[in-house]
Amino acid sequence: MTTTRQRDRWATRVGLIMAMAGNAIGLGNFLRFPVQATQNGGGAFMIPYVIALLLLALPLLLVEWGMGRFGGARHHGTTPAVFQILWNHPLAKYLGVLGIFLPLTICIYYVYIESWTLAFSFFSASGLYFGVQSQAGMADFLAGFQGIKDTSYFGGFGHGIGLAYLFFLLTAVINLAVMYRGISRGIEKMAKIAMPLLFIFAVILVIRVFTLGAPDPAHPENSVWAGLGFIWNPNLSLLRESRVWLAATGQVFFTLSIGFGAVQCYASYLHESDDITLSGVTTAATNEFAEVILGGSIAIPVAFAFFGGAATIAFAKGGAFNLGFQAMPLIFERIPLGAVFGMLWFLLLFFAGITSSVALAQPAITFLHDELNLTHQRAVVVVWLVVILCAQPVIFGLKGGFLDELDFWAGTAGLPLFGALEVILFVWVFGRKNQDKEWAWKEIHKGAELKIPRVFYYIMRYITPLYLVALMVAWIWQAGPEVLWMKGAPAEVVTWKWAARGMMLALIGVLVLLTSIAARRNKPWPRV
Ligand code: TRP
Repeated sequence: MTTTRQRDRWATRVGLIMAMAGNAIGLGNFLRFPVQATQNGGGAFMIPYVIALLLLALPLLLVEWGMGRFGGARHHGTTPAVFQILWNHPLAKYLGVLGIFLPLTICIYYVYIESWTLAFSFFSASGLYFGVQSQAGMADFLAGFQGIKDTSYFGGFGHGIGLAYLFFLLTAVINLAVMYRGISRGIEKMAKIAMPLLFIFAVILVIRVFTLGAPDPAHPENSVWAGLGFIWNPNLSLLRESRVWLAATGQVFFTLSIGFGAVQCYASYLHESDDITLSGVTTAATNEFAEVILGGSIAIPVAFAFFGGAATIAFAKGGAFNLGFQAMPLIFERIPLGAVFGMLWFLLLFFAGITSSVALAQPAITFLHDELNLTHQRAVVVVWLVVILCAQPVIFGLKGGFLDELDFWAGTAGLPLFGALEVILFVWVFGRKNQDKEWAWKEIHKGAELKIPRVFYYIMRYITPLYLVALMVAWIWQAGPEVLWMKGAPAEVVTWKWAARGMMLALIGVLVLLTSIAARRNKPWPRV
């Protein structure tokens, strides 16, 4: 149909790497990683983490970049069409729907959390939470802001849900405005500003944390160094627990944005001759630096220094946001220039968040544009209206666990399935079709500026898919029945969680319908 249509492209190599690193570096690096590491034994967590990085993440990353560039060269930036090209079976395009559904679903709740970071950077700068002295008080402040609890912190209103709602709309509109301008003029330009700022803020905060030492002379054992020791000394006996392996693997996927379909979509805006190996490995390395070095050196060590090890672990176990939104503000109140450092911390989170949320929304937009011929601008507006609409129950059903339910299915359970599908289709199915076992390996190495060691050819072929299938089985075995039937959950939670499942099914239904329309309209589809 529109064979001659010019595809938007990344304008510069640096811009591409900033955008891809921005895609990966997100709230996952600075909020999720410290909590996951703390909950799962600190140092022990890092061993399965590194193993998953090498055996799963790196091969899958190369597959996603390769698949994305391959699809983009054929004017298909999303997985329904690309899966169909790789595997000529009526089912393939519907399996590919996952590559739009997963990031879109994450986007729906991610943007809300992102908006809290923007709000809290204002609260830090204006000193709104200054004076709240205890952990319980700070928990109330956060719950009040989210409208879960009535408190006295937000004037006569009792709670701050109106404020939270305004910040959510503001955040959604900022995202929309960036994306409206497109890949090179919107996302790339924004990443080129936000990423350097993020690194500068992170380095300032790490230096501040490291120079705190042991702030309480009465408790010299509570120090930054004790926190670092906790992260880096492995308690090897924990390695016998499968939950540690599952958590570490899940974190590696989440932080690198792998197994969602979002990396493919960004990579589809490359030229077919562009390098992907060096760029891909560079963005992964940048993400790991931001996660393990920067992300690991802020929240945990500073909380160890001020509250001690036991309290830090309790903070982390209490919930995903406690470390970032409760422990950190309490610390900002106690250090000189705390308002400034608090603002930097939350702005850091905001920049990390926005460069990821645009990546989460992009597959849905690309799909509407590539496959249903909507103009880019119209696709952006449609997708953001859907995100804003679907975020309503996230905002108002927070206490009922609506957000957690979306996060479980799209942010945790879906990835091994989607990851296994993409590696099997790209490496096995399409290689057989071309009667060349090494097709995928050669495709990845087209224009390559870095030769990947040969051992990864075998890892990609055998170990990655087997590891993923084993992971899925272990997941279903461990968490399956309990999570599926929501054993022991209060009635209100059960209702909200079923509502979340209903919404996810509806989203899948709509995407399946649109995919079948696209396939019928653009016959023969996909155009190779
Ligand atoms: N990697 C992002 C983070 O660390 C979150 C994320 C998960 C993501 N899946 C994604 C971002 C897909 C973009 C696309 O916060």
